[in-house]
Amino acid sequence: MDFTLTEEQVMIRDAARDFAQAELLPGVIERDEKQEFPTVQVRKMGELGFLGMMVSPDYGGSGLDTVSYALAMEEISKVDASASVVMSVNNSLVCWGLEHYGTEEQKQKYLTRLAKGEIIGAFCLSEPEAGSDATSQKTTAIDKGDHYVLNGTKNWITNGGTADVYLVIAQTDVSKKHHGINALIVEKGMPGFEVGPKEQKLGIRGSDTHSLNFNDVKVPKENRIGEDGFGFKFAMRTLAGGRIGIASQALGIASGAYELAKKYSKERKAFGTEICNHQAIAFKLADMHTQIEAARHLVLKAAWDKDNGNNYDLSGAMAKVYASQVAMDTAIEAVQIHGGNGYVKEYHVERLMRDAKITQIYEGTSEIQKIVISRSILKD
Ligand code: CAA
Ligand code: FAD
Repeated sequence: MDFTLTEEQVMIRDAARDFAQAELLPGVIERDEKQEFPTVQVRKMGELGFLGMMVSPDYGGSGLDTVSYALAMEEISKVDASASVVMSVNNSLVCWGLEHYGTEEQKQKYLTRLAKGEIIGAFCLSEPEAGSDATSQKTTAIDKGDHYVLNGTKNWITNGGTADVYLVIAQTDVSKKHHGINALIVEKGMPGFEVGPKEQKLGIRGSDTHSLNFNDVKVPKENRIGEDGFGFKFAMRTLAGGRIGIASQALGIASGAYELAKKYSKERKAFGTEICNHQAIAFKLADMHTQIEAARHLVLKAAWDKDNGNNYDLSGAMAKVYASQVAMDTAIEAVQIHGGNGYVKEYHVERLMRDAKITQIYEGTSEIQKIVISRSILKD
């Protein structure tokens, strides 16, 4: 068993760390406060290859493995989880989905620009009445020969306002249930496509989350991804990898909070000594460190499974459910270690605590991950 990272993986991790410190840290508190999308920073992430990390260079990507992607996601998320969710959706849902299941024409037209971050993508599965219960799609894509007519509403769409390309899941033939669902590429500006108001959120406030409305949107047949009826499988396959990205995000939030808490505990004095010398604080740090290390092993194992052609549905779900719990627990303890300072914005940990919560909700709630895990282990 070899836990050593390759030289390339170390280089990518360090580059992401440097980028996060230099470009994301300044202004992160203000963007959170104003719910401001990190436009300039996301453009730079595209220029540095962070938005199409696993895409082949033939399509404008960086051609890296999933382990490198997970390491970069962790580093970016330590500092700014709003920027990392943009990165996660673009990489593991939109680019990955198009590269693996799109036609050559779709790749040339959309993937090449998405991978370089020239345009941003969104992944649109959730609806007002279809969140966890994702097969209950109410959005319809009616087959009209050479095009589909799309009607319905999508909820909670990350990059909803900033994206140019939207992968939209919709029901074509209700009699076939989930086998009658399709995935369509919808472009911003197609007549009948409207972006709803921005959600006012607890955390990841710099990312833009919107509902989307489709009113008789004509989508050409050539914009369908895969065979007729492949849409639900497409969503599930894409999300299996996406969950590794969100697990890495959760890991980053946890390690960011831990590093801040450790530093603070060595500086802050109470009862004549640094607070880290009080065993109650030292033990908190010991627990945080241990849990983060366990989460990191699960995350990297899932990424390694994906890179090595193993099934990663189970390892990805385990990584996500565990790392997101560690993110929540660690961020809460980091606030506690900071005392009153933990409760104010300038020490960053209150934001990390707010950001941590979403990792237990999106890309399948923790309860849904446990459904995936239990079905997988009971099948054996
Ligand atoms: N890979 C391939 N196919 C899969 C699959 C997988 N991982 N998981 C399920 N399927 C297939 C099944 O094989 C089945 O197809 P067949 O009938 O041909 O065998 C079909 O999908 C339906 O599967 P189930 O019967 O298991 O469906 P279910 O209704 O019990 O639901 C579920 C399964 C896992 C709960 C699924 O609905 C689910 O993942 N829900 C959560 C939705 C989710 O994660 N949404 C995230 C939205 S994106 C997002 O959130 C982005 C962001 O925040 C940034
Ligand atoms: P529900 O499905 O209504 O669940 C409510 C509660 O019931 C949860 O605790 C859930 O775990 C539990 N529950 C439901 N079913 C079961 C069951 N069978 N067993 C046990 N417990 C169950 N979606 C997209 O498609 N694209 C995006 O880009 C995207 N970005 C998002 C960004 C943000 C900030 C947020 C908040 C959400 C985003 N989502 C996105 C939606 C997200 O994936 C859903 O919110 C999530 O899948 C849960 O669906 P729901 O909100 O409808 O909750």
